[in-house]
Amino acid sequence: MKVKTKDLLTINELSKHELLEIIENAIKLKKDLKKGISKPLLKNKTLAMIFQKPSTRTRVSFETGMFQMGGHALNLSADDLQLKRGETIEDTAKTLSRYVDLIMARVYSHDEVEILAKNATVPVINGLSDSFHPCQILADLMTIKEKKKKLSGLKIAWIGDGNNVCNSMIYGCAKVSIDINIATPKGYEPNLNIIKESKKFIDIQLLGNPELAVKNADVVVTDTFVSIHHQATDRAKDFLPYFQVNSNLMKKANHDAIFLHCLPAKRGQEVTSEVLDGPQSVIWDEAENRLHAQKALMALLLQV
Ligand code: CP
Ligand code: NVA
Repeated sequence: MKVKTKDLLTINELSKHELLEIIENAIKLKKDLKKGISKPLLKNKTLAMIFQKPSTRTRVSFETGMFQMGGHALNLSADDLQLKRGETIEDTAKTLSRYVDLIMARVYSHDEVEILAKNATVPVINGLSDSFHPCQILADLMTIKEKKKKLSGLKIAWIGDGNNVCNSMIYGCAKVSIDINIATPKGYEPNLNIIKESKKFIDIQLLGNPELAVKNADVVVTDTFVSIHHQATDRAKDFLPYFQVNSNLMKKANHDAIFLHCLPAKRGQEVTSEVLDGPQSVIWDEAENRLHAQKALMALLLQV
C-alpha cells in the first residue's frame, strides 16, 4: 500500500486504513515470529535512534525489530552527538539522511522532532516527545485488537494525567472509532485542540471522576503522574488518592475489562501492584507488542 505520510510524529498522520494495516501486519509478524519465520524485509537498511531521554522498551524493541528484519540500528545518545556542542537539529537531520534509511528520535520538546522531520529526507518516527507517543498507541491498539477481537465500538477509560500518551491515544481512538472517557484532576487535561478535533469522530467525555469514567469501559488505561519531561516531581500529590487505578476502581469497569499501562509504572502511585500483576492486566503483551507494531510501522514507512 502506498503510504501518504513520510513521518510518524503524532499518529494523526495515518489514515484509518494505514493504521489498521499496521495493526493487522503487526499481528501477522508476531504470529510468524512465534513460528520462527522472520523475513529480512529491511535487509541493508539502517535506523538511527536518537535519545535525549532514557528508554528501556523503545530502544530495545526498535533495535531488536531492525535486527529481526535483517537491518541495523544505531543507538545515538544526543549527548554523544555534535548536537551537544551546538550543531543544529536541521544540520543533524540532513547529515543523518545521507547515511541512514530511517530516524527514530526521543526528544524533550515536540518541536525538535518536527524540525528533524522537516529537514530529514528519510522518514522520522517520534519515539516520545513531551506531547505525543505514537509508537505506544500502535502497540496499545494492537493489544486491544488481540484481546477484544475488535476495535470499533469499544470504550476506553483513561485515568490520571492527560499527558503525551493520552494525546496520542485520543488520536488513535478517533481513527478506529473507540469512545474515550478521560478522568483527570483539573488542570491536567489532555490537549483541548486534539479533543475538539477528535470529537468529530468519537464520543469523548472529560470527567473529574474516575468512577464515572470507568463505567462500561472495556479498557482501563493509566500512565505515570510524573513524565520524564516534567520538572515538578511533586505532581503526584494532585492525583492521589483519587486518580489511582486500584482493584476497587477496576471492579467498576466492565467485568471483562483489560488494563493497559505503557510502562514504566510507579507501583503504588498511578496503579497498584494488585492491578498491574492481576488477571485483567495485559501490560507484558502490551510491552511485547511495541516490537511487532514498530516492525509493521517501519515496513509501511519504507514501503517494503
Ligand atoms: N513505554 C515506553 O516508551 O517505555 P520506555 O520509556 O522504556 O521506552
Ligand atoms: N508519559 C511518560 C511515558 C513514558 C514512556 C513520559 O513521557 O515519561
